[in-house]
Amino acid sequence: MLSTLFLRAKKHTSVGTYAVQLAKYYWAEVTGVCSASNLELVKSLGADVMIDYAREDFAKNGQRYDLVFDAVGKISRLKAKGSLTENGVFLSTWGSGGMEPNDLSTLSRLIEAGKLKVVVDRAYTLEQIIEAHHYVEAGHKRGNVVITIEHSSSA
Ligand SMILES: NC(=O)c1ccc[n+]([C@@H]2O[C@H](COP(=O)([O-])OP(=O)(O)OC[C@H]3O[C@@H](n4cnc5c(N)ncnc54)[C@H](OP(=O)(O)O)[C@@H]3O)[C@@H](O)[C@H]2O)c1
Repeated sequence: MLSTLFLRAKKHTSVGTYAVQLAKYYWAEVTGVCSASNLELVKSLGADVMIDYAREDFAKNGQRYDLVFDAVGKISRLKAKGSLTENGVFLSTWGSGGMEPNDLSTLSRLIEAGKLKVVVDRAYTLEQIIEAHHYVEAGHKRGNVVITIEHSSSA
């Protein structure tokens, strides 16, 4: 029997791929900031406006946002502040807030209903765990990295 484990090295959980979809699910207009290689992926997840961070600095485009969510923990609150509306909010995965008891059940309900897509970048076997960690720690994965675990049905 095969069971699947999502590789959670330390604390990586492909936050951005869920953030875009959840924001769209809650009727937000989404501007996705990512690399050129991720533009199509982020667009396919529902983002309305795309910014390639190698070509444009979102903080200099004069736009104001109600929420700036840094899904990769790479920008400062100070940098984001200039791009917020008067009551705008900045959130980051660094020091991110705790989970509400129902959050996980909400997420699984949305996934089961097909409203939230789980993006899987690569799958590794448990024997390839070192390789998997190296890939994740390189910091360019696109979505989730999965570890497959084979175990005999007699176990
Ligand atoms: N606090 C918590 O509970 C918690 C939980 C989960 C995750 N985290 C943190 O959340 C962050 C995200 O983790 P993750 O697993 O989602 O992803 P990750 O593995 O840290 O990031 C990989 C993705 O981010 C893209 N990326 C890198 N720099 C970027 C930038 N400046 N702007 C936009 N995209 C960029 C990479 O693509 P390119 O290289 O092509 O741009 C790649 O697709 C990590 O820092 C993790 O430590 C925190």
